Amino acid sequence: RGIALLVLAVVSLRALPAGAAAITRSDFPEGFVFGAGTSAYQVEGAWDEDGKKPSIWVTFAHGGYAFDHATGDVAADQYHKYKEDVKLMHEMGLDAYRFSFAWTRLIPDGRGAVNPKGLEYYNNLIDELMTYGIQPHATIYHFDLPQALQDEYNGLLSPRFIEDFTAYADLCFRSFGDRVKHWTTLNEPNIEPLGGYDMGSLPPRRCSSPFGESCAGGNSTTEPYIAAHHLLLAHASAVSLYRDKYQAEQGGQIGVTLLAFWFEPATPKVEDVEAAARIIDFTVGWFMHPLVYGHYPPVMKRNAGTRLPVLTAEESARVRGSFDFVGINHYGAIYVVADLGQLKQSPRDYASDAAVTYITMPFQSSRNKHRIRMANHPAPWALRKLFEHLKHKYRNPPVLIYENGAGHEPDPSGGFMYDHRFRSRFLQDYIEATLLSIRNGSSVHGYFVWSFVDVFEVLFAYRFRFGLYGVDFSAADRTRYARHSARWYAGFLRGGELRP
Ligand code: NOJ
Repeated sequence: RGIALLVLAVVSLRALPAGAAAITRSDFPEGFVFGAGTSAYQVEGAWDEDGKKPSIWVTFAHGGYAFDHATGDVAADQYHKYKEDVKLMHEMGLDAYRFSFAWTRLIPDGRGAVNPKGLEYYNNLIDELMTYGIQPHATIYHFDLPQALQDEYNGLLSPRFIEDFTAYADLCFRSFGDRVKHWTTLNEPNIEPLGGYDMGSLPPRRCSSPFGESCAGGNSTTEPYIAAHHLLLAHASAVSLYRDKYQAEQGGQIGVTLLAFWFEPATPKVEDVEAAARIIDFTVGWFMHPLVYGHYPPVMKRNAGTRLPVLTAEESARVRGSFDFVGINHYGAIYVVADLGQLKQSPRDYASDAAVTYITMPFQSSRNKHRIRMANHPAPWALRKLFEHLKHKYRNPPVLIYENGAGHEPDPSGGFMYDHRFRSRFLQDYIEATLLSIRNGSSVHGYFVWSFVDVFEVLFAYRFRFGLYGVDFSAADRTRYARHSARWYAGFLRGGELRP
């Protein structure tokens, strides 16, 4: 009878609905890291200080092409305020900080001479993190290509990018690898080619489609595929180098970080279900497929034909398995319907190859009671579906969630505390979904909020704020303010309940 009672107790415990028991961080596996992130151009400022030269983002913003004609010249001024920021990270209880190196701070012309002041800055930042026991998670390249390489050989469109990126990565491993144990080669190489070479809305503003008023010319039917191909090969080349030359001695891990929305069919119709599967392959699969299987997804080959570059046998072998973990940036679900008419369009491009129509874009502004928010519809079920997909289709790769978060307009009343509770709730939902995925067998090892402080946003400059800490961009000293979400995250990291 005792045993029967015990079984009953265990069964009923397991049958409790998800989230019924209070979740705390001790429910996560040992070694699971909680952090927050930023990237160099978006947070550092000091755009031309101490020998730094322009990246394509500086040129883009100075040309007036960014939202509101804003620039990242000063941004949150982390270059001058890193000590204050690291202290805030410590007070918050972060295990880890994700940041990126500015290529043109370290190698101002993209290739060749190294800038000692650049080395000094990142050494200081990393040392400061180490002092407080905060793990540095470093991204080598986060969109800010040296302008010199853009001018010289069209940047990502040339295979010369691979060699220059590898040499730059070599400098990073050599200089910082004694302390940095988590490396990301590239941030979101599966979206950069679309923003920069298809829509023309991001630097270097290339496209050939009617979208881009700011389009600087290009050939969007092939360029996104070529840019992505060179990014993929550059990633694999840097990983080979790290493994051959540094990994045994330094003992770090290396991976690549992908933007991964979940795409949900808008209706149960077969063509919409197929459309959702197709766009997942065109976005996540674009990199995951070669990384795991050594070639592009079959549907991409089929639809893009000869416009999609082919991986040679040697390249394929180098790309396959070139990661210890995958970084996932996840912001929600997008509903899609099939748009098979697009498949017949001529000339064909990425959009017509993928042949879907998005019916909701959580990442675009949506108006809600006169407030604009980004990614404000929590869809934690979508994160769980994404992890199931990675588990089944890509052999359950080790994953770090490197970005998850929600943006909002700056407080119209001028206060910087404004996020009420919606961001805290959003993060709570996603952290819970992460735990449930782990319990379901997914290999997830960390969760990072985007962003630690308000940054210069890629799409909306200073109009959208993602920061746990708000930044007063009108104040010369870029004052930081703890938002509700900062206080809530700190409580959770100190052992408090997920939903206090
Ligand atoms: C994607 C990018 O990695 C980051 O630069 C951007 O600010 C956030 N997600 C939010 O848009």
